[in-house]
Amino acid sequence: MNKLSKLLKALSLILQKPYLLNNVLKDEIVFKEGFQRAFPSVAFKQIRLVDLMESDEVCITPYAFLSGSSLATDFALLQLLCRKYQVKDYLEIGTWRGESAANVAPYVDSVTSFNLGDEQLLSLGLEKNYVESHRFFSKDIPNIQHVFGDSQTFEFDQLEKKFDLIFIDGDHSTEAVKRDTVKMLSYLKNEQSILVWHDAKVDTEYPRYEVLMGIYQALPDHMHQQVYLVENSLCAVYIPTNISDESPILNRLPRNFFELTLKKLPIEDK
Ligand SMILES: C[S@@+](CC[C@H](N)C(=O)[O-])C[C@H]1O[C@@H](n2cnc3c(N)ncnc32)[C@H](O)[C@@H]1O
Repeated sequence: MNKLSKLLKALSLILQKPYLLNNVLKDEIVFKEGFQRAFPSVAFKQIRLVDLMESDEVCITPYAFLSGSSLATDFALLQLLCRKYQVKDYLEIGTWRGESAANVAPYVDSVTSFNLGDEQLLSLGLEKNYVESHRFFSKDIPNIQHVFGDSQTFEFDQLEKKFDLIFIDGDHSTEAVKRDTVKMLSYLKNEQSILVWHDAKVDTEYPRYEVLMGIYQALPDHMHQQVYLVENSLCAVYIPTNISDESPILNRLPRNFFELTLKKLPIEDK
């Protein structure tokens, strides 16, 4: 098909299904160009997951291997940060199945997991099965508290608490990431507190500019220097203390590999 035919076909499809326009407006190339215009001097830095591994093993449990789940290495990162920086109070925006909450719970004093409530999810037209999967792994864990609301409007002062690590994994649009991040800056416990954003990469090597734009717009300039992508994961982190970093290199040869042992565990009757 030549370029003109492609254009005509695309226009005809957009006229029939206007939502297809989002595929153009929300294309990563568009976000990347926008990011580079907004932050021409930002060069991403990366930290290595393996540098956080003080022992050779990390046990990721639970891990459902279901659609939309974070990577096992994302949960490893959260656990390792909680252990290395002695995180006591952990907050996350975005509970879903409760996998991230359940993965960090053994390593911290308290987990506060925040999500839209079930009624709100249903009223948005989301499927019953999807809504029912919320909190599946986290609901019976004693040090996990579930809090419900829309992070964009919720008054987090009600929690009367500040946090050593905040994991932002709710709505991933630029505007929402920006608003969540600006808000969360007020709930960091002290100068050493850490932020982690999920889906700051489209895969373990390529940046996701839609999310990174929200992060960099939200943080004051002096914090930009301490933002890192995390190798082997989909996450970006803000770590204010000194940490060894490097420039990310696309398609580099592996410098380490991991071994996964899969262990099948039954779901007890709840
Ligand atoms: C990717 S999932 C979280 C996954 C979880 N952190 C994990 O790794 O196991 C994102 C969740 O954020 C919730 N969410 C999206 N927008 C939100 C908002 N504005 N306020 C609160 N929760 C939101 C969704 O309902 C969904 O359950």
